[in-house]
Amino acid sequence: MSTWVQDVEDISRETKTPGLTGRVHIIGLGNAGTFIAHSLASRQSPPPITLLMHQASFYHAFRRKKRSLAVNYNGLDDNRTGFDVEVLHDKVWHRIPSKDEQLEANEDPDVLESAEDVPEEEGHIECLIVCCKSYMTEKVIRGVRHRLSPDSTILFIQNGLGIIEKLNKEIFPDEKSRPNYMQGVLSHGLKKQDSYKVGHVNVGSLILSPVVTGQTPLIEAEKDTHWAPTTKYLLRLLTLTPSLVATADTPAGILQYQLERLAVGCVLGSLGAIHDCKNRELLHNFPVSRTMRLLLLEISSVICALPELRGIPGIEDRFSPERLRRLILNVASNRPEDTSSIRNDLHYQRNTEIDFLNGWIVKRGEELGMKCVLNYMIQQLVLSRMYIINHREASAVPIDFDNVILSGDKSKDD
Ligand SMILES: NC(=O)c1ccc[n+]([C@@H]2O[C@H](COP(=O)([O-])OP(=O)(O)OC[C@H]3O[C@@H](n4cnc5c(N)ncnc54)[C@H](OP(=O)(O)O)[C@@H]3O)[C@@H](O)[C@H]2O)c1
Repeated sequence: MSTWVQDVEDISRETKTPGLTGRVHIIGLGNAGTFIAHSLASRQSPPPITLLMHQASFYHAFRRKKRSLAVNYNGLDDNRTGFDVEVLHDKVWHRIPSKDEQLEANEDPDVLESAEDVPEEEGHIECLIVCCKSYMTEKVIRGVRHRLSPDSTILFIQNGLGIIEKLNKEIFPDEKSRPNYMQGVLSHGLKKQDSYKVGHVNVGSLILSPVVTGQTPLIEAEKDTHWAPTTKYLLRLLTLTPSLVATADTPAGILQYQLERLAVGCVLGSLGAIHDCKNRELLHNFPVSRTMRLLLLEISSVICALPELRGIPGIEDRFSPERLRRLILNVASNRPEDTSSIRNDLHYQRNTEIDFLNGWIVKRGEELGMKCVLNYMIQQLVLSRMYIINHREASAVPIDFDNVILSGDKSKDD
C-alpha cells in the first residue's frame, strides 16, 4: 500500500502544487463519520486526521473514551487513537492540545480554557469529509466556510439529493471561489452502540466520485479528468484504505447509485416513518404495496426525464417502476428488522431528511413540468408527524400556573 506521504509528494509533483499537508478534517461524528475516521486511522500509514466537534460536550465525551474511536467487527471492539481535535465555541474553532496533561488532572475541566484558537494561517482545510445528515449540512458548512478555498475538496457522505445545489445557492454563489466537491455512497451497515462506537453489521462499500455541477448530460463530464490536487489525493487515500472497500466511479455512475438509494429512501424510509414500523411490516401488506406502486410511478418518471442522465443507455430499464419496486422489496426482505432513519429521527424529535428525498422528487418534477402530488403528500405527512410529535412534547412540559405572571397583570409584582 502506498503511504499517504508518498501520495502527497506524488500529487504535489504531478500537479505542481507544493505545500499540501495531506491532513483530512472530518465533521459529523455519528455512525458514518466514526466509521470513516476509524478506517483512515487503521491504515498502515494513517494520514493526519482532525475531528471537528461542534460542541464542547462532544469533546468531554470523547475524552472519557480516551480520545479513541471504536468499530465493533463480529463482536470484537477495534479501538483507534491519534486524532487531533478542534471544537467550535462562539463561532471560533479551538484546537485542543493532543497531550492534554493539564486536563488529565481535572475530571471535568472547561476544555476551551486550555485550548488555543486555530490561527488563521493554519486554519485552511484541504480535505473535508462531511458525514452529518443532509438537513444539517448548510449549518455545518457555514461554520467552516472561512477555512475553505477553491483548492479545498469537500466529500459529502449522505443520503438524499439536492444538498450541493443548496450550498451553491446559499453559501458559494460565486463559482470561482467555490471549493471542489466529491460525493460518496456508503453501503456499509452501521449501528450506533455507544458514543464514538459503532457496530459494523453489514459489509458494504464506498463509491466515490468528483462532482460536476450543472445540468448538462453527465456523460459529457466523463471526458473531463482535470481534478484538483486535493480531490485526487482524497480519492487515492480513500480507495487505498482497505476497510472502506472504496472504489471510484464517474459522476454519471455515482448519480445512478444515489438515485437508487433515493428511491429506497422515498418509499421504505418515508412509509416506515409514517406507519411507525419496521421494514418487515411493510412487506406482504396490500395497501402498502398499492401506495408503493403509485409513488414509484412518479419517482420513475422524474428520474427517467432528468437531463443529467440523457444519453446513458438503459436508464428506462434501470429506473422502471417495476425494477425499483423489486430493489426496494429486496432491501426490506434482506433487512427485515431495520427501521428507517426518518423513523429514528422522528423518535428522537430530530429533523428528517425528507426534503432531500421525496422533497427532491417534487422539486425536480416541478422543474420538468410534472406534478408529483403523491410524493408531495408523503413529504407533508412526515413533516406533520414531526409537528405533532414536537407539539405533544412541548405541551407535556408542566407549567406552574399559580406563579405565571400574565402580561398586564401587575398584582403579582405589587
Ligand atoms: N448509518 C448508516 O449506516 C449510513 C449508511 C450510509 C449512509 N448514511 C448517511 O450518512 C449520513 C450520516 O448518517 P449517520 O447515520 O452517520 O448520522 P448520525 O449518526 O445522526 O450522525 C450525524 C452526526 O453529525 C453531528 N452533527 C449535527 N450537527 C452538527 C454540526 N453543526 N456540526 C458538526 N456535527 C454535527 C450529529 O451530532 P448530534 O448528535 O449532536 O446531532 C451526529 O453525531 C446520513 O445522510 C445517512 O443517511 C448512513
